Amino acid sequence: MCLRICGFNQRNLRESYARLILNHSQMRLNVLPYVFLALFIQTVAFDTLSQVNSSRQRISINEGWKFYRYTDEPDKLIYDIRPEVTDRNDNIVADSKPTESVAVNSSESVLKKWILPTANDFIKDPSKKHIRPEGDPGKDFPFVQKDFNDQTWEAVMLPHDWAIKGPFYKEANAIVGGGMGRLPVQGVAWYRKKIEVTRADKGKNIYLDIDGAMSYTMVWLNGHLLGGWPYGYNSFRLDLTPFLKEGKDNQLAIRLDNPTNAARWYPGGGIYRNVWLTKVSPVHVGQWGTFITSNNVTPAKAMLDLSVEIENSSAADQSAQVRTEVFLLDKNNKRTTIKAAVFGLQKATVPKGEKLRIASSATINKPLLWGPQPQQQPNLYVAVSRIYVGDKLMDEYETVFGIRSLQFDPQKGLLVNGQPIRMQGVNQHHDLGALGAAFNTRAAERQLEILREMGCNAIRLSHNPPAPELLDLTDKMGFLVIDEIFDSWERKKTPLDFHLIFPDWSEPDTRSFIRRDRNHPSVIAWSYGNEVGEQYTADTGALVSKRLYDIVKEEDSTRPATASMNYAKPDMPFPAVMDIMSLNYQGEGIRDAPAYQHLRGIRTSPLYPAFQQKFPDKLIYSSETASTLSTRGTYVFPVFDGFSAPVGDSTGGNPKAEEVSAYELYTAAFGASPDKVFASQDKHPYVAGEFVWSGFDYLGEPTPYYSARSSYSGIVDLAGFKKDRFYLYQARWLPDLKMAHILPHWNWPDRIGQVTPVHVFTSGDEAELFLDNISLGRKKKAAYEYRLRWDNVVYKPGTLRVVTYKDGKPWASDTVATTGASAQLRLQADRKLIKSDGKDLSFITLEVMDNKGAFVASSTSRISFEIEGPGEIVATDNGDPADLESFASHEKNAFSGMVLVIIRAKTGAKGVVKIKASSPGLKPTELAVRIQ
Ligand code: GAL
Repeated sequence: MCLRICGFNQRNLRESYARLILNHSQMRLNVLPYVFLALFIQTVAFDTLSQVNSSRQRISINEGWKFYRYTDEPDKLIYDIRPEVTDRNDNIVADSKPTESVAVNSSESVLKKWILPTANDFIKDPSKKHIRPEGDPGKDFPFVQKDFNDQTWEAVMLPHDWAIKGPFYKEANAIVGGGMGRLPVQGVAWYRKKIEVTRADKGKNIYLDIDGAMSYTMVWLNGHLLGGWPYGYNSFRLDLTPFLKEGKDNQLAIRLDNPTNAARWYPGGGIYRNVWLTKVSPVHVGQWGTFITSNNVTPAKAMLDLSVEIENSSAADQSAQVRTEVFLLDKNNKRTTIKAAVFGLQKATVPKGEKLRIASSATINKPLLWGPQPQQQPNLYVAVSRIYVGDKLMDEYETVFGIRSLQFDPQKGLLVNGQPIRMQGVNQHHDLGALGAAFNTRAAERQLEILREMGCNAIRLSHNPPAPELLDLTDKMGFLVIDEIFDSWERKKTPLDFHLIFPDWSEPDTRSFIRRDRNHPSVIAWSYGNEVGEQYTADTGALVSKRLYDIVKEEDSTRPATASMNYAKPDMPFPAVMDIMSLNYQGEGIRDAPAYQHLRGIRTSPLYPAFQQKFPDKLIYSSETASTLSTRGTYVFPVFDGFSAPVGDSTGGNPKAEEVSAYELYTAAFGASPDKVFASQDKHPYVAGEFVWSGFDYLGEPTPYYSARSSYSGIVDLAGFKKDRFYLYQARWLPDLKMAHILPHWNWPDRIGQVTPVHVFTSGDEAELFLDNISLGRKKKAAYEYRLRWDNVVYKPGTLRVVTYKDGKPWASDTVATTGASAQLRLQADRKLIKSDGKDLSFITLEVMDNKGAFVASSTSRISFEIEGPGEIVATDNGDPADLESFASHEKNAFSGMVLVIIRAKTGAKGVVKIKASSPGLKPTELAVRIQ
């Protein structure tokens, strides 16, 4: 039975009624009023609609998948031919000039033509929409058959990242090198699952919503190729309705194809985000079909503009009505009964098989505004839109949104609800460390919590759209977001990156990205490119930019559109296209300090003034700064006596251990230390703020040591442990927080009598350092100085203590002491009570202690974990970019004294899980986590 009875059956019905009436008229009346005919057809269609159960359902189908990844030659069901990769070298400097694409000619048959029509809803020009060719590719392929025996395939639950467990590729010319994280992301894999439809689904439209799959997704249902979506970071929908049969035996088969040399970071592999079935009646709100904006926002009132797209997939035109009410959400994002506004009833006739947008407005009195924390509160509302045909409710659709005003002022910077808010931001890649790309809300929330503790209020989503739930978190927690989509356009950074599909997919990807995310109040700007090669190609590149810019503005004219520039200069055509100026490293100057003089590559003096002069009406901020590199808790001597230097074998680098000194002075070739960035920002107060590269370490791009697996640029390491740099930012971003932080640790048995500099990060302005209560001098920060340093301290075991002052008054202090040998272990959980929903996690930190309970920051003890009770160890990590032991291992070497173990409760379990840690020769320990 075909489920779309309102499609196919209704058409048949209508035709037979029409025939009947005509026969009748010829026999008796000879003339039949066409009006009557139309009314009659309308009634038939309406009757059928009225039988449809109209409640909207969004059903998670993350469970019960079977998974297979080829270890040998894969099938030939390819999307398109790709150029051959001749140069696998992945350690080119990040700011190298992107290069031209390579043409490929091949006669091999490809499936692209059947996939492209999936993009049609996101292509504006009707003549450019794709027509599905004849034929049904792959219909005879075994994996898409219902009766294919997939028992030997791996049972998996989504979100799933097939590569994260490793093993890491360790060899020099590995198929996946350091750039993409040394993990087995590459290749072709299949996912299969049966889905059930019941009588209650009769007449409904049933969609498959995939939030993200890496990459080149193609989907078959009951042997029929439905379509797909190549770009792995975008969310997409496929209509299952025409091919579903009642019963349990509907076979979904999804093929992914993940190329090597396709990214400059770890992409992950697999269906790594949530997957849903959406069931709606034939007259419903279209995919991401609502858009709410607020205007004229004042404390007294705000105007809300709403547009709702109604999709009518029934076989008759439908006169629909939309009524929308607005409710306040509580702190847990639950709808309250506080009805804040009502939009007037809107009516429209939606032609059969079409979509129509209906606009309306409402006034909201005394709105509770959304704003970034800590200055403001992130209040949220939900708009509940109900669609009726006649009296019958057809759909109820919720749109969470916030009311806020944004001003991008070239002098004052960003104003949210009229208040200047400095962007204290970081860049974040999409992976979640040892959990890989597989999205997990708690893991993302933990990252944001740690960043918040540092005073961070803004995130740039480099360089791709996130999981939708991440934006739910930033809305709820009050972070500002730059939502970004591309790292490359027509020109390429890696041989197989997005440039290959740019001609076909840049428009649909851009439109779908914005439609999905545009109701999130946390999103303040759209970035449609990062350091793209088109910066170098004058007018040609600017034209590509303008095309994308226009698409962005068509989808959302309320937010600025931008693309980040590490090369384009004010007098080039590229920046002129943009609403706001997003500078990567150019603001503070690239390779312009004395220590960078020997390097080749882009070189600029600080360009804030030049940009401001050329674009006096545009806000300027830095979308990337710093690229300071360090390995948590490791220090290399001697210490550079200036403020910023590129990492080298004699400046901060330890190539043998693949470590970079955490004095936080050493940077990527084009980078600058935080101190240098702060000074430049302070000297140019019109600059609206910065986004540091990067907040957390991420998998891949392990500059400067490509034999490692993960980056060195994070303020926080891959495990979520704070590097010293955390406190340098905290001191600046939370100036009222009383804090002081000493580095390095004070366990240097081999350095007795040697100069061992001591640096202090503090929100105070003056400090006195003591070694065993003997003063090493009191120092004050000079103008444009952000750390206090005692560079001539001669090491001897003992206790360092710093006492800091602000405006002459005592402020904060910190102590670091030489410890004894490693003797015992300590476990601490971020949360000791977790849910057994199969998703919630506890992040447990192991620290190695001496026999007096002091943290041994230099410990490398081998740690083993065991778990007892209804839970499992999901992953372990120590934050060392060069450690190639699998994240799935229950053992790990402590790194700078610490290890992270992530645990999850078995689904539906209750009780207590015990995690035990042991290490040869040390006193073991255990910790209980309760399960709710
Ligand atoms: C930038 C680039 C980032 C990252 C960073 C590394 O040039 O935009 O994606 O590669 O360098 O330091």
